[in-house]
Amino acid sequence: MSGEFNITLADSGACFPCKQDQNVLAAMEKLGRRGIPVGCRGGGCGICRVQVVAGAGYRTQKMSRAQVSEADLAAGICLACKLIPEGDLTLRVLGLFRRDCD
Ligand code: FES
Repeated sequence: MSGEFNITLADSGACFPCKQDQNVLAAMEKLGRRGIPVGCRGGGCGICRVQVVAGAGYRTQKMSRAQVSEADLAAGICLACKLIPEGDLTLRVLGLFRRDCD
C-alpha cells in the first residue's frame, strides 16, 4: 500500500496525489496546484467547500457547523482543509460558486 491517493477535480479534470494522513487542501497547496479556493485552512470559513462525487472513502476532521450542516455531510459536502482521503476521490469544487451567490 502506497499510502497515497489520487484526488481528481471533476470540473477541471485536474489531478494531484494526497497522502493518507494529509488533508486535501494542504496536499494541493504543497504541490503548488490550484483548483480549490484557499481560506483559513482551519475549517471555519467555508471557502474550500467541496462535494465528494465519487470515491473509495474519506473521513473529516472538525468543521464549522455554520459551514457544513448535517444535510451537507449526508450529501458528501465537506471542507477540503478537513478532508482526509481513505482512497481515490473525485471532488466538485463548491467554494467559488458559493461566494458568487453570496
Ligand atoms: S480554508 Fe477555511 S474552511 Fe477550509
